[in-house]
Amino acid sequence: MDRSSPSAEFWSQDSQVQAFSVNSQVLLYETALIGEAITAAAISGEVQQVHAVGVGTGRELPAIRLQLPEAKISAWDVADPMVEACSKFIQAQGLTNVSVGQANIVDLGGLSPQADVVILLNAILCYVNTPQDRRRALEALQQLLRPGGTIAAVVHQPNGRIDWATWFGLRSLLARISLVEGGSGDRRISHGNSTMLFHHYTPNELHRLLSSAGFEQIQIRSLRAWSRETGHKIPLRSPNPLMVTAVRSDN
Ligand SMILES: C[S@@+](CC[C@H](N)C(=O)[O-])C[C@H]1O[C@@H](n2cnc3c(N)ncnc32)[C@H](O)[C@@H]1O
Repeated sequence: MDRSSPSAEFWSQDSQVQAFSVNSQVLLYETALIGEAITAAAISGEVQQVHAVGVGTGRELPAIRLQLPEAKISAWDVADPMVEACSKFIQAQGLTNVSVGQANIVDLGGLSPQADVVILLNAILCYVNTPQDRRRALEALQQLLRPGGTIAAVVHQPNGRIDWATWFGLRSLLARISLVEGGSGDRRISHGNSTMLFHHYTPNELHRLLSSAGFEQIQIRSLRAWSRETGHKIPLRSPNPLMVTAVRSDN
């Protein structure tokens, strides 16, 4: 398994692990998204095996357990210190039938048994920072799922807020003439001693990637659209991420 990715280094810092060790509860929209993915997967078979990818210190695990009391939950994270902290959290919470291990998303494709649902909360796919790896990551997730299995993911978008849309619009022009690093949608983030590119996906880009990796029934909506649909208010300055579910096709 790949332990040397920029993401592993970025997320292995003590201060990151400490920040996430607060383990705040999942938000209402995240619970709703997990529920939608479970319901869609249940159309084609029982939901007995869930993978939580990029699990950090384990914030989402109690929420998954609440929705699926009997399922086996396999959690993964690229950063060893996160895996260690998550393992302690699982014990402290008394969660059973839950395992956690170190893995990069791009390496998860060959695992057996295949998953009924894969959950990636909190921008995990945005830390996959080259176009090739983004394709590999979605292909790996497709292989990890059984036919009819589903993913639930939350990712950042460039146009979720007016200030971001303006910034990304300008950056995209500069990227086209190679005056800035990375492609349009990329932005450099820093924490402590570490820095890496972070990718914001447009809905079209994400749809294309999912579709060419073998997903169908792709549903992509912004958190603000969800807020309008459900009447649950979100903060004015929310990053307004994209909420994504998709079904692995039969082939
Ligand atoms: C923002 S935190 C989210 C943690 C958790 N899902 C939550 O919502 O609290 C992102 C996590 O994704 C993990 N991660 C980043 N890139 C990854 C990759 N390529 N494969 C697996 N995990 C990754 C990081 O190590 C980090 O723990």
